[in-house]
Amino acid sequence: PGRHALRGATLSFHADPFLSDPHASYTHLPDALVVIEDGRIAEAGPYDRLRASVEGSMPVAHYPDALILPGFVDTHIHYPQTQMIGAFGEQLLEWLNKYTFVTEQQFADPAHAGMVSELFLRELLRAGTTTAAVYCTVHPGSVDAFFQASQRFDTRMIAGKVLMDRNAPEALRDTVQSGYEDSRNLIRKWHGKGRQLYCITPRFAATSSQAQLESAARLWREHPGTYMQTHLSENLGEVGWIAELFPDCCDYFEVYRRVGLAGPRAIFAHAVHVSEDELCACHRAGAALSHCPTSNLFLGSGLFRVFDAKRADRPVRVGLGTDIGGGTAFSQLQTLNEAYKVAALNQTRLTAAHAFYLATRGGAHALYLDDRLGAIEPGYEADLVVLDLKSTPLMDFRMRYCADLMERLFVLMTLGDDRAVRATYVAGRPVYDRSRQPAPFRYA
Ligand code: GUN
Ligand code: FE
Repeated sequence: PGRHALRGATLSFHADPFLSDPHASYTHLPDALVVIEDGRIAEAGPYDRLRASVEGSMPVAHYPDALILPGFVDTHIHYPQTQMIGAFGEQLLEWLNKYTFVTEQQFADPAHAGMVSELFLRELLRAGTTTAAVYCTVHPGSVDAFFQASQRFDTRMIAGKVLMDRNAPEALRDTVQSGYEDSRNLIRKWHGKGRQLYCITPRFAATSSQAQLESAARLWREHPGTYMQTHLSENLGEVGWIAELFPDCCDYFEVYRRVGLAGPRAIFAHAVHVSEDELCACHRAGAALSHCPTSNLFLGSGLFRVFDAKRADRPVRVGLGTDIGGGTAFSQLQTLNEAYKVAALNQTRLTAAHAFYLATRGGAHALYLDDRLGAIEPGYEADLVVLDLKSTPLMDFRMRYCADLMERLFVLMTLGDDRAVRATYVAGRPVYDRSRQPAPFRYA
């Protein structure tokens, strides 16, 4: 609705710090104006240069002591698992059977799916995340509920129905045919409607038959522009099981690649235990990996090697994922905190430039959306997060001892969480403002 602007410090990446000089990969303006028109960024530049054309002609929201970034991108998350974050004490396969497959049965009820979708999206926006690649459940109604809620916020979401025709409870299984038809109908209904994008979602190779994986690949081929998301090499028990189920494949990635489920707009979550051959195959395919540090630590899955994946001679696209509810936080700041520690345990160092790239433009690049999302540049969609550099007494105190932007960003990702999010904008509209929150809604 009309032109308006944000004023404050900005940070936006124009290059990949893993592949070029990290210090030359971003633009930081200490006092900038971001002019928004029709949901897009019309202009962004130094306040002193733009003030004359802006002042008096449009409303300006001023954010001192803050940093304006592109909205965070979460490349792997399960909305139905919001209600089971922190389920105690198991590794992946027991955790799936004991908690996940019990919880997901509740999403046969569209009212429950609608309630959780709404809460989930509010939680993402409170954390400053404006785009995510989201698992629903096997129930088509869980997808309708999610996209309906996302349409109301006008968020750019990538989501789809889980395909799962074996090794799961009866109530959560589809068939090759019903999975294909339900997904095709959902694609026709939702893909490209407003900002919604469809994602064909075989849960992982252990819960889809070979025929269902082939059918998913056919569906993906038949609908160019749609996404494909699955899990890959998360846990050693899982990797061993896949080797038994697919004895004629040389590795886990090959199970997906040979049926046609590897290519641009494919997202593989975790990839903790992948080989050099698998990383090369992933690079050749143009597929993306989602790094899910809080989940990989919580479920004891292992340590993703981000600098190996992003090796400059065969870089693989990598985004960050929270993997709620295997993961433990919606906040990409908390996720980066854990990503730093995972890199440290691999004897590498994730700088603030690497980290904030992954959370913004890197995620958009992984999703082939970096021509429209993940940067503060004219023409880009106006999904923005305003981070508060003084959101808690400790943060305020600590920031006084930071010498430069990169030190401040590093403290933000080490101490920060949803309290550091002052405001979130979606398609130019303020959808979350920390200072204007009503008393917390209570769920009956
Ligand atoms: N592998 C297959 N399903 C799941 C899931 O729901 N969460 C995680 N973290 N891994 C999986
Ligand atoms: Fe997952």
